[in-house]
Amino acid sequence: MNTTKTIPTAQIIAGRPLADRVAVVTGASSGIGAATAERFAELGAKVALVARRGARLDALEDRLRASGGVALALPTDITDREATLATAARIADELGTVDLLFANAGVQLISGISDLAVADWDAQIDLNIKGTMNTIQAFIYSLEAAAAAGGPSDLIITSSTAAVRYLEGFQVYSATKAYLTQLARLLRMELGRKKVRVSAIEPGMVNTELPDHVTDETASKLMADLIAEIHVLRSEDIAEAVAFVAAVPRHVNLTEIHILPTEQTI
Ligand SMILES: NC(=O)c1ccc[n+]([C@@H]2O[C@H](COP(=O)([O-])OP(=O)(O)OC[C@H]3O[C@@H](n4cnc5c(N)ncnc54)[C@H](OP(=O)(O)O)[C@@H]3O)[C@@H](O)[C@H]2O)c1
Repeated sequence: MNTTKTIPTAQIIAGRPLADRVAVVTGASSGIGAATAERFAELGAKVALVARRGARLDALEDRLRASGGVALALPTDITDREATLATAARIADELGTVDLLFANAGVQLISGISDLAVADWDAQIDLNIKGTMNTIQAFIYSLEAAAAAGGPSDLIITSSTAAVRYLEGFQVYSATKAYLTQLARLLRMELGRKKVRVSAIEPGMVNTELPDHVTDETASKLMADLIAEIHVLRSEDIAEAVAFVAAVPRHVNLTEIHILPTEQTI
């Protein structure tokens, strides 16, 4: 059991290495996205907060502003291409040229293929794949412009350990994440030449709301047991790694970062 041990803070980066950066975080209303948006702001970036739950985004915006940060809550369903483009236009108007995109929003819905949970298949494909493509469409010219102007520019995509491991019941989810890892590898070929860095973050088990959406009982139990038995990751652990990816010098591209809880062996 993991109840007796104290976990130290994830925060290692000092100062304000992201000052002058304009960041967008999708999935900023909870979990990894919320923690990363907060860390970006602490490290000096202006941060646009994107997700559907406006009240959550407003609360985070208030908190970041109260501690001296610049934040902008923009409730958006990123599966809606036009809405995503409209959000990008507002960010350009209000915050300027985006040079740090954390394309993080995603959903995980586990089931056997014979269950024919086709609505779940669609939800994962629509958000994890198409939503990420909408996000890239909305900000790619901004990332390229920032790089052309001589500053750092980052496209950081949340993939998963599921992209490269075999986990029963995770077929569709894993396939969407394999798409994202492979997408990041291929985008580097085109964007690296333009001095835009591309990175895939591949976390293992992080204690967030993600498993709450899973209806399959076996998969739910697997995740609940893991959380009870080992020290799984916290969103802050991922946030620090993402901030590090953005904070290193411009000529350094950390391309794929696999982050597992030390005790996670599946
Ligand atoms: N937790 C893990 O163990 C783990 C492991 C590997 C990878 N990941 C990946 O990490 C990313 C973040 O997940 P999390 O663990 O932090 O879970 P989470 O707390 O459930 O976060 C998911 C985020 O995506 C947003 N979202 C969902 N549908 C959206 C839509 N249509 N448009 C815009 N935003 C939408 C949610 O906000 P709204 O509901 O407000 O829209 C929420 O902010 C996901 O890509 C996930 O696949 C997580």
